Amino acid sequence: MISVKRVTCVVGARPNFMKMAPVHAALRSRGLDVRLVHTGQHYDERMSAIFFDDLGMPRPDAFLGVGSASHAVQTARVLEPFDADCAAFEPDLVLVAGDVNSTLACALVGAKRGIAVGHVEAGLRSGDWRMPEEINRVLTDHASDLLLTPSSDGDDNLLAEGIASWRIARVGNCMIDSLRAHLERALQADGPGRFGLAPGEYGVVTLHRPSNVDEVGQLSGLLAALGRVARDLPLLFPIHPRTRGRIEDACLSVPVGLQLIEPLGYLDFLGVMAQARLMLTDSGGIQEETTALGVPCLTLRDSTERPITVTEGTNTVLGSDPAAIEAAVAEVLRTGGRRGRIPDLWDGHAGERVATRVCAGIRTLAERA
Ligand code: UD1
Repeated sequence: MISVKRVTCVVGARPNFMKMAPVHAALRSRGLDVRLVHTGQHYDERMSAIFFDDLGMPRPDAFLGVGSASHAVQTARVLEPFDADCAAFEPDLVLVAGDVNSTLACALVGAKRGIAVGHVEAGLRSGDWRMPEEINRVLTDHASDLLLTPSSDGDDNLLAEGIASWRIARVGNCMIDSLRAHLERALQADGPGRFGLAPGEYGVVTLHRPSNVDEVGQLSGLLAALGRVARDLPLLFPIHPRTRGRIEDACLSVPVGLQLIEPLGYLDFLGVMAQARLMLTDSGGIQEETTALGVPCLTLRDSTERPITVTEGTNTVLGSDPAAIEAAVAEVLRTGGRRGRIPDLWDGHAGERVATRVCAGIRTLAERA
């Protein structure tokens, strides 16, 4: 059992910030020496800096500036500078979150240096090995000593892969801590009004998965389907730079009624999502946020690593066939969509449970060998 005094918390890409902010704050409030490292996987103001302000998170102690590249190159670019950062700070624990390339790279560095590694949001599985995130999830979990899961399906997946129960701690959903902490402030700004929309009378779209946006035929089919939906329900589409790039490269036209805007910061996005009639998305995190908000979510993917949002929440995994979208939206408009309930331990205190678990000391894989 190692006792933890110094922790390096890693963030790299947009979905990491809201997961790590409450963990970082809870660890600091226990008096630990906490370092925040940003790999720079996401670097645009609207993909990164704005989140630190919105979430009240301090500026990172180190910014590794790895930028965009192929998956392997991006992962490789994290390894050396993060290794050097660990050599200098000498943390007892490296904490990573989620399933992006930076998550896997930093877990690997920690494991190779003999530092304990903890994974926030461990145990999620889509079962789809074509997703880069699935590779990151599985490999990160197997390199980690402490697996901090958001829900019981995470525990089940890890146990089924032969991971010993002493490595698993169910803490709940850290991202929902951020949502609960900031929702009131997000609702105070007139988010929908800024875009000429009335609360409850619009939908929000996000699309960025390679499987939906990298192939021109698929992307243009989705845009056309969204255009047909927008005749009945105006759609707001904060667009990921990857998706904007694909639309511009292929010279695709954007249908009337589908309002393309720049990526939104955390508070602005939370405000428009909370007041939407429905969400159409291929994001992972938004499936959870809509469940927490009680907003119906149609997920434009064939699988989800977050099945609890379907069994308990407001999510429907619709698939990526554009033809299915109109009928599904019509159904939500007719019935109001799924109501759902909020899963256990999505209560705003997951970050504190992470800190409690970390302060209790960590058994490591190395000492069990
Ligand atoms: C990454 C994550 C994905 C997550 C998503 C959230 C991996 C494998 N993927 O995907 O799991 O859901 O972030 O947004 O880690 N770009 C910019 N500015 C930025 C960042 C990216 O313009 O600040 C553009 C670049 O052209 C880049 C492209 O977006 O090539 C893709 O960025 P990248 O970080 O490779 O993957 P995401 O699609 O953002």
